[in-house]
Amino acid sequence: MAKIFRIAIDGPSGAGKSTIAKAVAQKLSIDYIDTGAMYRAVGYKMDRDGIPFEQGEALDKMLAETDIDFVDGDIILDGEIVNTLIRTPEVSMLASKCSSIPEVREKLVEIQRAMGTRKSVIMDGRDIGTNVLKDAECKIFLTASAEERAERRFKELQEKGEQQTYEEVLADIKARDHNDMTRELNPLRKAEDAIELDTTGIGIDEVVAKAIEILDQCLNESDQ
Ligand code: DC
Repeated sequence: MAKIFRIAIDGPSGAGKSTIAKAVAQKLSIDYIDTGAMYRAVGYKMDRDGIPFEQGEALDKMLAETDIDFVDGDIILDGEIVNTLIRTPEVSMLASKCSSIPEVREKLVEIQRAMGTRKSVIMDGRDIGTNVLKDAECKIFLTASAEERAERRFKELQEKGEQQTYEEVLADIKARDHNDMTRELNPLRKAEDAIELDTTGIGIDEVVAKAIEILDQCLNESDQ
């Protein structure tokens, strides 16, 4: 049986994690797990169902009754495909908010770890290299300046017909960076053994090529 290997990609919002992870997953024919989408799904569900964003019985009950999975690239929340519902600016903030609740992290990390033991995966998020898959064979920490990340997100939103201004997008990015880096539980930070890749001013093709180079290096090392 082929050896299972895990690739962790962490970094702030808009650094290009999902684009890189998808390209690498396709190239290596392995599964891509977007953990941010899982926090988005929970934030979306809490808001939709009026669950308070704090510890308590309502939250515990909701989490116990929540099922999240990825099937053929779709994210499935309790049997429903929620790909587009979770990609709004509102849900971005709800995801960031719910991600600081310990019970939410506990539940999602458990599902993520189970996904990473069954098969080779590339998983992206904020705490993959530092917490979820601490022993991943390869860890990449992807960064870019807040301004460049806001520019990329702004263009994406414009293409989708969303009305946010560049200034609003930049403010959102900075607010989420702050939430993600200062939360008590598993904040966003680079794992000691992660390789940092700054994508500011670099085109996507070049970033994918650099990521593949890093991966080849890691995978060769893990074979030895
Ligand atoms: O990557 P994203 O923008 O889709 O993530 C949405 C939010 O989820 C983000 O603000 C931080 C949180 N998140 C997290 O806390 N841990 C992860 N592993 C992934 C995302």
